[in-house]
Amino acid sequence: MSDEDGEEQQGLVEQLLDGLPLPAFTLDERDTVRAANVPALAILGERARGRNLALSLRGPELLDAVAGTRRDGAQRRILLRLPDDAQYRVKVTGLPAADPPQVICVMQDVTSEAQNEAIRREFVANVSHELRTPLTAMMGFIETLQSAAKDDPVARDRFLGIMSREAGRMNRLVRDLLHLSRVEAEERVRPRETIDLPGILRSAAASVRQVAEAHGSTIRFQGIEGRVTVPGDADQLTQVFLNLMENAVKYGARDRPVTVTISRETTSRGPVIRVDVADQGDGIDPIHLPRLTERFYRVDAHRSRAEGGTGLGLAIVKHIINRHRGWLRIESEKGRGSVFSVMLPET
Ligand SMILES: Nc1ncnc2c1ncn2[C@@H]1O[C@H](COP(=O)(O)OP(=O)(O)O)[C@@H](O)[C@H]1O
Ligand SMILES: [Mg+2]
Repeated sequence: MSDEDGEEQQGLVEQLLDGLPLPAFTLDERDTVRAANVPALAILGERARGRNLALSLRGPELLDAVAGTRRDGAQRRILLRLPDDAQYRVKVTGLPAADPPQVICVMQDVTSEAQNEAIRREFVANVSHELRTPLTAMMGFIETLQSAAKDDPVARDRFLGIMSREAGRMNRLVRDLLHLSRVEAEERVRPRETIDLPGILRSAAASVRQVAEAHGSTIRFQGIEGRVTVPGDADQLTQVFLNLMENAVKYGARDRPVTVTISRETTSRGPVIRVDVADQGDGIDPIHLPRLTERFYRVDAHRSRAEGGTGLGLAIVKHIINRHRGWLRIESEKGRGSVFSVMLPET
C-alpha cells in the first residue's frame, strides 16, 4: 500500500469514528493513539493523538486486552475503572487490514450503572444486617429457654419480653421495607384525589399521641384554619406527617411541644402549601442533613434503635413527597431544634 493510500485510509477511519456516538479511538502497533473522536478526546485529553495511550490514560487492563487482540485477532471486552471513579465498558476490535494495522477501542460509560449496583449491594447488606441482629438475639434466647432457663419462671418471663421486643423490631423493619418498595414503584404515578390537608395532619397527630405522651410532649397546630386542599394520596400523606411528627417527638426535647404550622407560599415553582414540623430537641449537625433521607442513614443509630426506629422513615417520606411533585426542606440548629418543611404544590 502506498503512503497516499495509507493516509486516505486513515482519513476514512477518522470519519468513521466521528460518526460514532460513543467515545472511540484506534491504536497502532506501538499503542500510539492514531485516531480519536471528540467524545474520546474528552476522556483522553485534547493532546492524546500521536501519543502513547499510557500517557493519556491509566489502564493496564486495557493495554493487556489490546495486546491480546493484536496477537490473536479476537475481540475483547473489559471493564475500565478510571482514577476519578468513572467506569467504562470497552470493546477492543482488531483492524488488521488497516495501514498500519490498528486496534479500535469503543467505550461505553457505565458509571451510573455501576453506582446503582453498588447502592443496591449496600442496601441488601444493610437489610441483612438489620434483620440478623434481632434474629441472633432471639435464637440465643430460645436456646437459653430450652436449657438453662427451662425451669426458671422469672428468667423465662424476662427473656420472652426481650424476644417479643426483638420480634417487633423485625416486624417494623419488614413493614417499612414493603412500604418503601410500594412507594418507589408508584413514584411516577400522580395522585388523583384531592385531600384536605388539616384533616390529614389531625389524623396523623392522633396516631402519634401515645408516643408523644410517653415523651411528655404534645403536638400543637398553627397557621391557616379551615379547609386547605391539595392533590394527594390521603394514606401516603398521613404516613409522611406521621413519620415527621413521630421523629419530632422522639428526637425532640422531653416536655417541649412539637409545633405544626400550615401556610401558603409562592415559590419559583408555583404556589405551594407548606407544612412545618418543628421540635425543640438537640438539632442535627449540618454535615448529616444532605444524607438524612438515605435509606438506613441515622445520626445516632443507638438512639434510633432504642426508639424503635428502622432508619427508613425519611426515605419513605422523600419518595412520597416526590410522587406529589413536592419537596422537603430540613433546617436545624444544634441545641435549638429542627424544622422539617414539606412543600406541596396547590394544583
Ligand atoms: N426531628 C429530628 N431531630 C433530630 N434528628 C432527627 C429528627 N428526625 C430525624 N432525625 C435523624 O434522622 C435519622 C433518620 O430518620 P428516619 O429515617 O425517620 O429513621 P428512624 O427514625 O427510624 O431512625 C434518625 O435516626 C435521626 O438520627
Ligand atoms: Mg423515624
